[in-house]
Amino acid sequence: MSPMKVLLLEGIHEIAVEKLTEAGFSVSRELTAFSDKELIEKTSNFDAIGIRSKTQLNPSFFENNKNIKAVGCFCIGTNQVHTDFANQMAVPVFNAPYSNTRSVAELVISLLVSLSRQICDRSQKAHAGVWDKSALGSNEVRGKTLGIIGYGHIGTQLSILAEALGLNVQYYDVIKKLPLGNANSISDLSQLLQTSDFVSLHVPETEQTKNMMGVKELSLMKKGSYLINASRGSVVDISALAQLIKSQHIAGAAVDVYPKEPKNNKEAFESELRGLKNVILTPHIGGSTEEAQYNIGIEVATSLQQYLLQGQSAGAVNFPQIEVPAVKDCARLLNIHKNVPGVLGEVNGIVSKFGANILRQFLSTDPNLGYLIMDLDVKDMESLQQEVAQLNTSLRTRVI
Ligand code: NAI
Repeated sequence: MSPMKVLLLEGIHEIAVEKLTEAGFSVSRELTAFSDKELIEKTSNFDAIGIRSKTQLNPSFFENNKNIKAVGCFCIGTNQVHTDFANQMAVPVFNAPYSNTRSVAELVISLLVSLSRQICDRSQKAHAGVWDKSALGSNEVRGKTLGIIGYGHIGTQLSILAEALGLNVQYYDVIKKLPLGNANSISDLSQLLQTSDFVSLHVPETEQTKNMMGVKELSLMKKGSYLINASRGSVVDISALAQLIKSQHIAGAAVDVYPKEPKNNKEAFESELRGLKNVILTPHIGGSTEEAQYNIGIEVATSLQQYLLQGQSAGAVNFPQIEVPAVKDCARLLNIHKNVPGVLGEVNGIVSKFGANILRQFLSTDPNLGYLIMDLDVKDMESLQQEVAQLNTSLRTRVI
């Protein structure tokens, strides 16, 4: 059998090529994104496609490339893919939400120290030829209190690193989370704001977190404390933050994400925070490290490999989730079908007609799709697959 073909666009890290080639795929790598036209003309032979954030996969892509069985987004977001349409076309979309966790946590540690020592202002002055040597307003972070809002993947990593620097850590989360190290869980956000020297935000973008740091919350922060936001731009009311920094209630802030961000490096960056004292502004680089790119390459290549070669869909953002052991001493039937009553009965009927022995069976559904995996001991798998594929409810049927 000829190897399955994977196309990687947008200069995805070489490690992904290595991993997929090792696993037996034929891999093509392009350095740029493809236009809609190129996507239709040049991708029809491929079994899977890997993209980053610039390639748009619209419904027309999926309609014209029925051979594509999986999409790998070698990045965090999946907005560039019409994931609902991909679901309707029985195509799982994978991404790498946690490969840059450590990179963000490390950046935040550097921001904590930089704010506390006013490093950016001092550095700018030194660049301008001004020698501003003074201890006034500069502090160690040791013994200070860090309040983390959102104790998930990044929040917890930060918690561990901050404790190693001698900070006392407290956190607030809407879900009950196990404290790591000596961190303290605080159930009341106001209390955390009133008692922290640094507040660092690590929540997702949701209706509840939109402007969760407004005038009221920022005013509750201790006088002379610092705010760090490397989560999502919508979480902080930027005008309110600018106001509280100007009034010197908040001693400084480090912001990596903004409500409105330039689409590319050529567009100008506008923000009310520009030019304010002891405010560090970074261009959404929290997760942008070479290590993160490498980890993303491994994570998404592994997801594609596990789906195409084993049927495992765990981690897909738009697809029923199944985690399965490796195929061993049997043939595996994968059937993606419309989620309507009676499918399992019909497939089982065919399996029994062929005298097949079911060794393992897994089913997972979402409102639109059902995903069935069956490990079978059967003589004529090819004919069995054909009959299952011909069911009116079947969208895609493969054998591994
Ligand atoms: P996660 O999903 O692991 O953790 C988020 C935590 O926030 C969860 O524990 C959740 O229960 C909690 N949470 C949700 N709503 C909350 C609320 N209203 N109040 C308090 N806690 C709440 O996410 P992860 O990976 O830790 O990422 C956190 C944020 O960092 C996300 O917004 C993500 O988009 C952002 N991020 C930013 C990057 C950058 O380049 N600056 C790179 C990677 C992630």
